[in-house]
Amino acid sequence: MMREIVAVLDFGSQYAQLIARRIRECGVYCEILPHDITRGEIESMSPKAVVLSGGPSSVMQADHPGMDAALLEAGIPVLGICYGLQLLASELGGRLARGSAREYGPATIDIVGNGSLFERAGKKIDVWMSHGDHVVQAPEGFEVLARTASCPVAAMGNHEKGIYGVQFHPEVVHTPRGKEILQNFLFGVAGLSGGWTMAGFVDESVAAIRSQVGDGRVICGLSGGVDSAVTAALIHRAIGDQMTAIFVDNGVLRFGEVDEIRRIFTRDYPLNLDVVDAGGLFFERLAGVTDPEDKRKKIGNTFIDVFSAEAKRIGGADFLAQGTLYPDIIESRSAKGGPSATIKSHHNVGGLPEDLSFSLIEPLKELFKDEVRALGRELGLPESLVSRQPFPGPGLAVRILGEVNAQNVSILQQADLRVQEEIEKWDGFPGVWQSFAVLLPVKSVGVMGDERTYANVIAIRVVSSLDGMTADWVKVPYEVLARISTRIINEVAGVNRVVYDISSKPPSTIEWE
Ligand code: XMP
Repeated sequence: MMREIVAVLDFGSQYAQLIARRIRECGVYCEILPHDITRGEIESMSPKAVVLSGGPSSVMQADHPGMDAALLEAGIPVLGICYGLQLLASELGGRLARGSAREYGPATIDIVGNGSLFERAGKKIDVWMSHGDHVVQAPEGFEVLARTASCPVAAMGNHEKGIYGVQFHPEVVHTPRGKEILQNFLFGVAGLSGGWTMAGFVDESVAAIRSQVGDGRVICGLSGGVDSAVTAALIHRAIGDQMTAIFVDNGVLRFGEVDEIRRIFTRDYPLNLDVVDAGGLFFERLAGVTDPEDKRKKIGNTFIDVFSAEAKRIGGADFLAQGTLYPDIIESRSAKGGPSATIKSHHNVGGLPEDLSFSLIEPLKELFKDEVRALGRELGLPESLVSRQPFPGPGLAVRILGEVNAQNVSILQQADLRVQEEIEKWDGFPGVWQSFAVLLPVKSVGVMGDERTYANVIAIRVVSSLDGMTADWVKVPYEVLARISTRIINEVAGVNRVVYDISSKPPSTIEWE
């Protein structure tokens, strides 16, 4: 069956991504496209509907981001959201006004028009508003479907053309019935059938990987994170032993991580796994290095050296697999200003030497992070791996301030293990984005028994975040912090003081280096 597609035109990436995620939750595949794409380019994809996203700009400014108005004559159903509604009104001859104040927050709209978009919604619904401008007069041929006291056109529609617009944000959770409104548009107005599922995605991807790879060979770097693990599992499902997964033990992984990866990929989910024990080499290269950027560079370069040597040792390959995700594609596209711009290279494997020439294979490049986790579950990967917290490429090295050596790593691993164990037992754990320990290179005085001690400080970092771009420190209950502190000080040799990091990002960062 041909995949049904909805095109989301991007007038501000964060808005567009949230809309896309909601549409996909409705079982409909969608892609985010630049707002200035032409009618012809859109038509070549045969989308069943187009959604115009919100965005931070004002249609009333001269240089506002626009769209190819011919698209509105193409007979494809359109839904404009917030900025998208205003753009529709302006392109089709409606009238806009600049609000006296920005309307931001909850509102209740009165539904005054007919059918379709608000089918079964009743007379009033709670919505989330966030706008400065608003439409005061709908274009000719459009019916006003909803209004509020301060917003005369909270929703409008041209039933004949299948073009609709809403001033509020149906994609946010603060519009409780937003998903129904999106469903009404997708299934009622645009006649989509839904049914895009992870099981279906696996089937499609397996077929695509088989046809891309043929009887070639693939190598896939495993980092211990979710993306690379799911990439490996999916490719393995498609081509079995034609893929070799390379896991580089760089000596700065969390306690037990190497064993866990080895166990998962030899026992629970067996695939062709090659574990390279390179801790010694990494420590050699890191000796005496204390500058954070130097550390990152040394680790990155050493990784490339080890990975390339291993790839050569196992006889090379035709393809290199990468766990690039959809937001990487969208963001690198908006950064470079065009859909054809090259995709940013993964920090781990960008910069491989030229005598190792691979074609890239990126089977997750259409997915958002939450979909990658769902895919991992679909493929049968264990929950401990699928719901794993993000972990930086340079590993514990950026959580050891000062020199990284085997002894410091061992102290940090032991402290970090206790943070993990106690935070996982706490019922607030599901709201935690990352929780970990940091080893500080300062020594302080303590007393244990009758003995004076002079030992290291451990800082604990627990943050909540949606995407790692901003973060807040989590108000972990004192009892939990007390247990962590007691256990670390009693059980980890070399530590006599524990502190809690109460800084948000910005202005701090999540990692300490
Ligand atoms: P910061 O410290 O910049 O981190 O607030 C934001 C998020 O990114 C992770 N992080 C990295 N991930 N390679 C990665 O793959 C890296 O070099 C790296 N540095 C930071 C960090 O753990 C957090 O989730």
